[in-house]
Amino acid sequence: MESISNIYIPSEGLQLPGDERVVEIKDLHIAFGSTKVLRGLNLVLHKGENLVVMGKSGSGKSVLIKCMVRLLDADKGSIEMFGKDIEQVDRDELNEMRKKMGFLFQSAALYDSMTVKENLEFPLRNEKNLAEAEINKRITEALENVGLREAANKMPSELSGGMRKRIGLARTLIMKPQIILYDEPTTGLDPVTAREISELIVKVQSKYETSGIIITHDLECARITSNRVVMLKDGKCYAEGTFDELRGSDNKWVHSFFE
Ligand SMILES: Nc1ncnc2c1ncn2[C@@H]1O[C@H](COP(=O)(O)OP(=O)(O)OP(=O)(O)O)[C@@H](O)[C@H]1O
Ligand SMILES: [Mg+2]
Repeated sequence: MESISNIYIPSEGLQLPGDERVVEIKDLHIAFGSTKVLRGLNLVLHKGENLVVMGKSGSGKSVLIKCMVRLLDADKGSIEMFGKDIEQVDRDELNEMRKKMGFLFQSAALYDSMTVKENLEFPLRNEKNLAEAEINKRITEALENVGLREAANKMPSELSGGMRKRIGLARTLIMKPQIILYDEPTTGLDPVTAREISELIVKVQSKYETSGIIITHDLECARITSNRVVMLKDGKCYAEGTFDELRGSDNKWVHSFFE
């Protein structure tokens, strides 16, 4: 008989009293035409944790994080961030909340006509109270933290895929986000570079004290970065546990991801 010990049961799962919740998603539904993608998804992100989200291609992982930054609006359910429902806040408040969130897209989109430094300055331009010295300090610090201090004056075309990812992350870091959403941060990279990016995610977590949601198909990335893993199936969180717990699960569907 299959054990269900690792399977997430919404009524009982994820109750960690006392742990601060930076994100709490309840009963989230979203459909595109007749395609129901999320169907009552519940998810909690605790302060300071890195949560890995796994699931088959098309299971709604990217849709989930797009809902969190309101690039998409859910049909039903709620997303609380820092204790506030993101659908209920006004525009100014939403902008303030967005500033606390970093988003590393599947393709680390950089502006090709700008140098690395200009790319990093770009998101800071709207911050009118930031002095030039502070901007420069943040850029240097972020580049140093991703190990690319010498790349400030390079053009994106001169960078490798791994370097572009690092610069994408640096651009997120200069905003000093409290939550970082990573969509497949290691996809398209060779195993060594992928591992470096995974290790960088862990370094960022401790150095910037961020909470993170990391979407990945890369088992090594999941193992390195996760404090906890959830697995999406049929529009819900189907399984939840540590990487090792899920890898050792005797649920066939869960196990199939780790083979
Ligand atoms: N803006 C959109 N309009 C219509 N359908 C969409 C839109 N965004 C996503 N979808 C659909 O929602 C489903 C989930 O897509 P999503 O991108 O979240 O998958 P995913 O789990 O991230 O997959 P992958 O692992 O391949 O990145 C897919 O069927 C996709 O076609
Ligand atoms: Mg995706």
